[in-house]
Amino acid sequence: MNFPLFSFGPRDLAIDLGTANTVVYLRDRGIVIQEPSVVALDYSSGLPKVRAVGEDAKLMLGKTPANLRTVRPLRNGVIADLEVAEQMIKHFLLKALGGSRRLGGKTEVVMCVPSGSTSVERRAIRDAASNAGASQVQLIEEPMAAAIGAGLPVADPVGSMVTDIGGGTTEVGVISLQGLAYSQSVRVGGDKMDEAIMSYVRRTHNLHIGEATAERVKKEIGSARVPGDGRGMTIGVKGLHVERGVPREIELTQAEIARALSEPVGRIVHAVREALEHTAPEIAADIIDDGITLTGGGSLLRGIDAVIADETGLPVRVAENPMLCVALGAGMTLEDRVLRGALQAA
Ligand SMILES: Nc1ncnc2c1ncn2[C@@H]1O[C@H](COP(=O)(O)OP(=O)(O)OP(=O)(O)O)[C@@H](O)[C@H]1O
Ligand SMILES: [Mg+2]
Repeated sequence: MNFPLFSFGPRDLAIDLGTANTVVYLRDRGIVIQEPSVVALDYSSGLPKVRAVGEDAKLMLGKTPANLRTVRPLRNGVIADLEVAEQMIKHFLLKALGGSRRLGGKTEVVMCVPSGSTSVERRAIRDAASNAGASQVQLIEEPMAAAIGAGLPVADPVGSMVTDIGGGTTEVGVISLQGLAYSQSVRVGGDKMDEAIMSYVRRTHNLHIGEATAERVKKEIGSARVPGDGRGMTIGVKGLHVERGVPREIELTQAEIARALSEPVGRIVHAVREALEHTAPEIAADIIDDGITLTGGGSLLRGIDAVIADETGLPVRVAENPMLCVALGAGMTLEDRVLRGALQAA
């Protein structure tokens, strides 16, 4: 018999605490929060006080005066600053539950964890949610949540492959019968793409640009492959000249950005190929027919689906609302008795 460990109530939530973005799903409501995982701390009175969280804090990235500091409490998919992560979760929990309502009592929370995370890292996520006010915490592995959220038939005896390209990690999961038959997590994602752009611009154009500018370049003209005309779109960027230390503006082409991105993109493709090599033959046969589903913000990079398709010879599709799939899938376990089985595996 398969009785649930406990039943979820109307204040229950699922949280995808991502390196770049936190997404919150409220039971019976759906996605209620999608904001950057950034906290701005104010040090004016000695002890750090939270000044802004999420969207408001991200606007301050790289632009803070001496008394303010912006912190991204997650790195590579796992918590790097426990205290700040707790503050951030608390802020989002309260916001999701309508602000003034007090936490406590019975807010049960499903937290998403990278498949490659250690027991220490999982404990940190569990503790952060408990300390933020969750009365009970369950975990779900991100590739499983991504597959559920992308609408893949996770409970069927059919193999599916999902690749979640996030800000900090890329996770490849092979799922069958509500279990992860194989998973692989590599610390490459959108952040590494931004770093690749920053270091390329510094090396080639002698220009120092910030993280936010690199991310904007990636979103606006970034591409996983060099455009046919060898140039593609162009974008103007402003930064600081490395030697002269003065502000300067240059123009970047899509082709040069694609070349700068080839290293992180290559590592993502390598992780997918490695997962395929480790897949049991019967499951591989299903994947040949159904292909690979991409989720996560990194799947929005132009042409990444085509590059993965070329390199694997398999059909590749980007899920609908790829940045919401993990939270959506985790949230669906709050409402579906069968899917709840996915939680116990974590
Ligand atoms: N149009 C786009 N093109 C390329 N990259 C994009 C685009 N939109 C968003 N991204 C990138 O997607 C990343 C964020 O994706 P997502 O929200 O799925 O990550 P995350 O869940 O926070 O991270 P992780 O799962 O690694 O902890 C960022 O690096 C962002 O720059
Ligand atoms: Mg993610």
